[in-house]
Amino acid sequence: MRPLSTKLAAIAPSATIEITEKARKMQAAGTDVISLSIGEPDFPTPAHITEACIDALRRGETHYAPGKGIPELLKAIAEKIEQENKIPCTPDQVIVGCGAKDSIYEACEAVLSPGDETIILDPSWVSYEPCVQIAGGVPVHHPLHQDTFQVDDSLLEKVTKKTRMIIVNTPSNPSGAILNHESLQLVADICQDHDLIVLSDEIYEKLIYGKIHTSIGAFPGMEDRTITVNGFSKAYAMTGWRLGYAVASKEIIGNMNKVQQHTISHPTTFAMYGGVAALKGPQECIEEMRTEFERRRAFVLKSMDEMGLSYAPADGAFYAYVKVDGDDAEVANRWLEKGHVAVTHGSAFNHPGWVRLSYAASMDRLQEAMRRISAVL
Ligand SMILES: Cc1ncc(COP(=O)(O)O)c(C=O)c1O
Repeated sequence: MRPLSTKLAAIAPSATIEITEKARKMQAAGTDVISLSIGEPDFPTPAHITEACIDALRRGETHYAPGKGIPELLKAIAEKIEQENKIPCTPDQVIVGCGAKDSIYEACEAVLSPGDETIILDPSWVSYEPCVQIAGGVPVHHPLHQDTFQVDDSLLEKVTKKTRMIIVNTPSNPSGAILNHESLQLVADICQDHDLIVLSDEIYEKLIYGKIHTSIGAFPGMEDRTITVNGFSKAYAMTGWRLGYAVASKEIIGNMNKVQQHTISHPTTFAMYGGVAALKGPQECIEEMRTEFERRRAFVLKSMDEMGLSYAPADGAFYAYVKVDGDDAEVANRWLEKGHVAVTHGSAFNHPGWVRLSYAASMDRLQEAMRRISAVL
């Protein structure tokens, strides 16, 4: 038989999913593995959101919906983006997708022509590179500053005639770092000087500890050049709902809609009513989860200090990103096999020498995990 897609042959499977699978297999075989390897809030979806979805099902909202999403949700997103992120936005500049991941992929398809380069700032979330590649683009990696995890002037060296897009992610998965105003200004200046688009992944925007979140789409001159991606998975513990969105110029949204029309059609109709309830309903649920993450974060970072491990600025998301000696994949494997704690090695984020621990686990499990890691060390 002739080989299957050469395009996909070049794409690595998701490292985070692979490690979690390995941990699951060990668990199935009877080993008490503590999984700190996946990025998923360990809280239930708030009840009022689930109820809104159930109501929608009972009302019979079980048929096709408008392609870019139900009007109520497009409006709720546009209002949120204007009020909170200070980005001018009308509902026709919004498209709802099956998770932020889907929106990121559609954005790559919408912007990139074959061979167009996209700059990815490392350490980077595992799916940016494959999304660019599947869309026919060429990923170009660029390291953030190794101590501050901020952007510096060296970014300009990566810009060529073929560069079309830069992806920024703040707060960052895996590092937890938040890009400061200067970093975002540098990116904005480069985008304007070189006619580039920025894809800004702000999915962890609500999970911040003592810092503030800034959206690059709100910078002067960036309205038409920014695709702001966000979603419901992390802020509202809705990972399984598969609901996310993008906000951009009508032209970009039009292109994303072409991809959507011919692939997913639209996200699940009744799930979108849950999305409306999330945005329009009480927001205390976010603060309750954030506060609990903050408590766990303090515990994990204190444990790292006690073990003499250094870590990236853990200002956002729910990850501690820790520097390790030697090969990070070997370290992660040792922690899993000897300590029965699953973490993700930094090479998965194009950043060897580090490992990522998710503190989206109960305090009891985190305490036990820290005890085990300390014993292995
Ligand atoms: C940085 C980042 N962007 C996007 C996503 C995708 O989120 P969603 O569940 O909305 O597809 C994730 C999920 O892990 C993430 O960490």
